[in-house]
Amino acid sequence: MTDINHRRADHPIHSIFLERWSPRAFTGEEIGEKDLLALFEAARWAPSASNMQPWRFIYARRGTEDFASLLETLDEGNQRWAKNASALVIIVSKTHRLTSTGELRPAYTHAFDTGAAWFALALQTQLAGWHAHAMGGIDRDKAMRVLGVPEHYRVEAAVAIGKIADPSTLPEDLREREKPSQRKTLGDFVFEGRFKGD
Ligand SMILES: Cc1cc2nc3c(=O)[nH]c(=O)nc-3n(C[C@H](O)[C@H](O)[C@H](O)COP(=O)(O)O)c2cc1C
Repeated sequence: MTDINHRRADHPIHSIFLERWSPRAFTGEEIGEKDLLALFEAARWAPSASNMQPWRFIYARRGTEDFASLLETLDEGNQRWAKNASALVIIVSKTHRLTSTGELRPAYTHAFDTGAAWFALALQTQLAGWHAHAMGGIDRDKAMRVLGVPEHYRVEAAVAIGKIADPSTLPEDLREREKPSQRKTLGDFVFEGRFKGD
């Protein structure tokens, strides 16, 4: 079976699924705009219900004023390490769509679809030699305000993108956690025929 990053797949899968992980140690080097846009191109081709493509990505590259604004929307625990990212991204999804009669209708799968787009971005980031680290630890109200996000969108998550650095560059408490994580077994979450478990 495939062994990569101290991770073992029990069934044969593409190595990218074991190679991708979420480090916190980043070099802080610049990412070119074209290189960054190429990562979003992968997200563009994610599937979505009725092809509604409810995801929106707001990005800032390191060294810009926008980078400081996006960084400020993260929880302090995330700012500690995400400040060394090459780019920060806030992902929002469109929770409602406007009908032809001017009515706002809920879009049931907005979060599911946007999750698919985030993971396309994450895999492309890995393939391109960078790493992506998602964060739910954000001040969502602040992000809505600072980034001018309309009411019928939801802030889903933030992402730090960067080149991986040596763990020694991290504060000590984060250093110990700087390794690819493990997973439940298939038997814990894949059921034949009907739901099992708690
Ligand atoms: C939606 C989401 C929110 C997350 N929030 C945070 C966060 O706020 N801070 C953090 O350091 N990591 C965060 N993570 C990273 C997860 O802890 C990580 O993906 C998980 O432990 C699996 O590890 P791996 O990505 O290295 O395989 C988040 C990941 C996702 C997908």
